Amino acid sequence: MLIREAGADDWPGIWAIIRPVVEAGETFTWDRDVSQERARAMWTAGHAYVAVDESGAVLATAELHRNQGGPGSHVANAGFMVSPSAQGRGVGRALCAHVLQEARRLGYRAMQFNAVVETNVRAVRLWQSLGFEILTTVPEAFHHPNKGFVGLHVMYLKL
Ligand SMILES: CC(C)(COP(=O)(O)OP(=O)(O)OC[C@H]1O[C@@H](n2cnc3c(N)ncnc32)[C@H](O)[C@@H]1OP(=O)(O)O)[C@@H](O)C(=O)NCCC(=O)NCCS
Repeated sequence: MLIREAGADDWPGIWAIIRPVVEAGETFTWDRDVSQERARAMWTAGHAYVAVDESGAVLATAELHRNQGGPGSHVANAGFMVSPSAQGRGVGRALCAHVLQEARRLGYRAMQFNAVVETNVRAVRLWQSLGFEILTTVPEAFHHPNKGFVGLHVMYLKL
């Protein structure tokens, strides 16, 4: 597996991962019917990354951007999505480790996740195992399609 910055040619592979994740409405605070154009603008606004296999197929993608502007721009934010067929094999962990390294290289002082769905146990455990702490949980801030109103964790890691 190779993790690298995404290029324009990677977009179809990235969109193939993003679309079902967002449509499912279980893990991201995006409109479930987001257009491809809007998704691309959001995912590539900062730095976008892909994890690819030996054949070049996109297994996972991540994006890294500043969490706030101006005096808040030294804190990064990031998003991660792994293809269902590649989940549970350490791809998410490797991708996040890479993005944390990138964030340090770019001079960020911390990384903050604003909206980690509390029922997304796999993600919460992964972020915690990489050093993130839950600062607070905004109650009932996420409307899960099956679980109803659930909390959103704000998670933080000093870089
Ligand atoms: C969350 C996500 C990025 C994790 O990627 P992944 O490649 O599946 O995760 P990994 O295989 O690297 O597993 C990492 C850790 O997740 C945890 N984990 C894995 N499977 C788990 C499960 N079934 N239940 C609970 N925790 C689990 C473990 O802590 C594991 O640590 P380990 O490496 O010590 O075993 C991926 O599942 C995904 O894309 N989900 C949909 C989109 C999403 O939720 N993005 C994150 C939004 S905050």
